[in-house]
Amino acid sequence: MLDYNRFLGKKRKLDEVKVMTKRRASRGVMMFFNREKEIEEIKRIVSTEPNLITFVYGPINSGKTELMQRIANELPRNYVTFYINFRGKFIRDYNDFIRVLFKFEKNGKKKILGEIAKESARILRYKGIPVPMSILDLISERKTGEDVFEFLEGYLEEISKRRTPVIIVDELQVIKELKIDGLLIYRLFNFFVRLTKELHLAHVFAVTSDSLFIEKIYSSAMLHGRARYMLVDDFSLETAEAFLRKNGFKSEEIKLTLDFFGGKPVYLVEAIKNKHRLREFCEEMLVLRRRQIKDMIYEECEEMQRKIKNFLEVFKEKDEIKYEKLTKEIKWCIEKNIIFLNPAKESIKPQSKLDLIAIKEIIRG
Ligand SMILES: Nc1ncnc2c1ncn2[C@@H]1O[C@H](COP(=O)(O)OP(=O)(O)OP(=O)(O)O)[C@@H](O)[C@H]1O
Ligand SMILES: [Mg+2]
Repeated sequence: MLDYNRFLGKKRKLDEVKVMTKRRASRGVMMFFNREKEIEEIKRIVSTEPNLITFVYGPINSGKTELMQRIANELPRNYVTFYINFRGKFIRDYNDFIRVLFKFEKNGKKKILGEIAKESARILRYKGIPVPMSILDLISERKTGEDVFEFLEGYLEEISKRRTPVIIVDELQVIKELKIDGLLIYRLFNFFVRLTKELHLAHVFAVTSDSLFIEKIYSSAMLHGRARYMLVDDFSLETAEAFLRKNGFKSEEIKLTLDFFGGKPVYLVEAIKNKHRLREFCEEMLVLRRRQIKDMIYEECEEMQRKIKNFLEVFKEKDEIKYEKLTKEIKWCIEKNIIFLNPAKESIKPQSKLDLIAIKEIIRG
């Protein structure tokens, strides 16, 4: 099982970095870069009839959320996007779940649907699905997930007469263990299959950076033939170089940054911010990451520590390897966000170049 406190603790640190990078945007560092290929792919998907659920996955901080927000901003006006993010939300029960799913409005249904139908509205995107406050009683009275989905099906059917709904669910794994008459996630998947493959009503994008979760989904019989998978990886080195160059980096600075961070967007953005003390910044980040990984390993019993280190040895020579069996120690590294698993390639690799260097140093002792 995922150690969520640790997971959230780490996320929090990275989220702080993200907030800093957003602030920095106002100081003139270029914000959104590249992703033409992914944007084109998504536009191609939504230009056809909804048929499959699209799972968007990738290493942590690779830019999945940023990309999906971009999509929400860029789709033409015959679409309406509903972006739902479970990150940081404490969802313990049904009521918490619907509070994240919906955006309750004072306006009645007619008015909300009228707004969605309006021709003049340019780009229409919502955080949460807007519904009248009055339906809250109706939904919460019944207390079962099934009714929410029944309601939503009818509601989306009405919306789809005017615009094509695009539902983006981010950080889906947050609810992976939530039980409401059985596991909610399965009911949600059934609902998504209904919206796509059966009714062709709405496009559904489910985003996650939880590798073990996506691996389970990938091999689940229930979703076989009903889902497609889209990898959003870190930038390639060429893209990362172009991004840094665009932000005023000289060749030497580019080399140093790529040596430490590879194409991880969040670190590149931070490197740009710390250009005046680049080497120091790179080294600080490495010390921090090495410390974090070491601390996590030392929390385990000696036998497990040995197994983990033995396994990590493979990254001395290789950056990415195929896996045969997901052993306890491999799963541990994935859960701790040290290793990223790509089910489509049956491969595993460190979550970032920085992790790779830290791993090598830890192994060296
Ligand atoms: N295309 C991009 N251009 C410029 N910067 C980017 C891009 N994509 C991501 N970033 C930077 O990286 C940060 C992290 O991106 P984002 O939050 O989208 O990653 P993520 O893959 O959703 O992360 P998580 O795994 O935590 O969900 C952003 O806040 C932004 O600063
Ligand atoms: Mg994200």
